[in-house]
Amino acid sequence: MTRQTPRSVALGATGPPVGRQGLGCMGMSEFYGPTDVEESLRTLDRALELGVTLFDTADAYGHGRNEELLRPFVRANRDRVVIATKFGLVRKADDPRYRGVDNSPGYLRRAVEASLRRLGVETIDLYHVHRVAPGTPVEETVGALAELVAQGKVRHLGLSEVTGAQLRAAHAVHPIAAVQSEWSLFSRDVETTVVPTAAELGVALVPYSPLGRGFLAGAVTSVDQLAPDDFRRHMPRFTGDRAGHNAALLAPVHRIAAARCATAAQVALAWVHHRQAVHGLTVVPIPGTRSRARLTENVAAADLVLTEGELAELEPIAARVAGSRDAGLTMAAVRRD
Ligand SMILES: NC(=O)c1ccc[n+]([C@@H]2O[C@H](COP(=O)([O-])OP(=O)(O)OC[C@H]3O[C@@H](n4cnc5c(N)ncnc54)[C@H](OP(=O)(O)O)[C@@H]3O)[C@@H](O)[C@H]2O)c1
Repeated sequence: MTRQTPRSVALGATGPPVGRQGLGCMGMSEFYGPTDVEESLRTLDRALELGVTLFDTADAYGHGRNEELLRPFVRANRDRVVIATKFGLVRKADDPRYRGVDNSPGYLRRAVEASLRRLGVETIDLYHVHRVAPGTPVEETVGALAELVAQGKVRHLGLSEVTGAQLRAAHAVHPIAAVQSEWSLFSRDVETTVVPTAAELGVALVPYSPLGRGFLAGAVTSVDQLAPDDFRRHMPRFTGDRAGHNAALLAPVHRIAAARCATAAQVALAWVHHRQAVHGLTVVPIPGTRSRARLTENVAAADLVLTEGELAELEPIAARVAGSRDAGLTMAAVRRD
């Protein structure tokens, strides 16, 4: 492996410096099988030791439990941690497949107070609009977020799953530090929808699910391996004949991993890190894991530089993937101001 420098990057033109790879904390509370609070807390500490400083959560993860899980860690390391959370996704405790989207200023004001309380902080470092609500202009939402910046409750703004036009409109109201979107060897639509605009505006990309929710690591090849309540049982790429088809697409990933004495997860993450050079913008992936061992493996991937030949081998994969990248949940617009 060849070490890449620098070890930290600015999160876009206006954002804070962060380690080159962040940590997605969602799975520590929900969605991907059994959780283990003690190991999660040890994983957070290890991440910081390894130079990870961007920690990603959302009010929706575990219905607030994920922010609460992070609270002692964030408070103990307040000056070293960049805590990113999100608002806007409304869930129902009794219906795991329900998703509402509320971006109204009234809802936002309640959501930020609740996140600040659960995280035990006075300021959120990076606050994302989790989804843009149909029918609510993004300018209205960002205007309300700018007031929170002025009040000192939020330091930097982020968006998630937006188009280039939405990013441009938002950025005209208040600088946007980062956009979070799914981006991986399996999911590359972002390269045409928002990446060029982000590069032009100096906005960082924070790829989520960079391991294809674990699929690219080769650890999951059938839903039969998953816990009964694992959300991936609803995801088209993991189900039916598509799982076998998609697993076969990973042959070049496994071949490169063997040749480089790396793991499939590291090859998949190295490919995401390489997007920075290809597209000319800051890219800070946030792979999710509940364990120290996998965290250590994933962080090392930032130092794995793929050759042009290896990148060419990986290039065709995304176009051949079967099944859409999300579970097809309807995002109903709701307003609760
Ligand atoms: N903005 C949004 O709408 C949005 C949507 C989804 C996710 N996110 C954020 O992005 C973060 C990352 O995405 P994600 O968690 O969905 O997907 P991911 O990072 O692509 O994959 C996570 C899965 O991969 C497994 N894994 C991690 N490292 C591995 C390794 N080295 N070898 C084998 N398996 C490995 C994890 O299991 P273990 O835990 O057992 O290691 C987990 O099941 C989330 O935690 C969340 O913070 C944001």
